Amino acid sequence: MLGFSHYPIRRDIQAWPNVNRLGDYHGPHNHGWSYLSGTYYVQLPEEKAATRPGEMHPAAITFSDPRYGAYQHSIAPDASASARQTIYPSPGTLLMWPSPLIHYVHPNHTDDIRISISFNVILEWSNDYAG
Ligand SMILES: [Fe+2]
Repeated sequence: MLGFSHYPIRRDIQAWPNVNRLGDYHGPHNHGWSYLSGTYYVQLPEEKAATRPGEMHPAAITFSDPRYGAYQHSIAPDASASARQTIYPSPGTLLMWPSPLIHYVHPNHTDDIRISISFNVILEWSNDYAG
């Protein structure tokens, strides 16, 4: 090794189930107290079950780049949309992302139930790291 010390990583993992029925959604938020966040998708509404047009998809999650103005000078054809990324997971999909990333879960406009399990990985400081 090149002189690097090895320390045990002190971490905690929190996980919780999400059961979203007709009309349920989760507005824009982040998990800023954590290091890594994620969701495992168990059951999702069918895309064809969507009852409303537009970007609201009953199974989707959208992430927003938190860097204010980062895309103002983009030369991409659709620069205004490039700061957001919408994911359409399937049952069995596992998504992981940096916890400070803002995201929202689209409203479930179907009679199908959306079931997922989310988690946070929290790193804990130890004074042993500074010694
Ligand atoms: Fe979240």
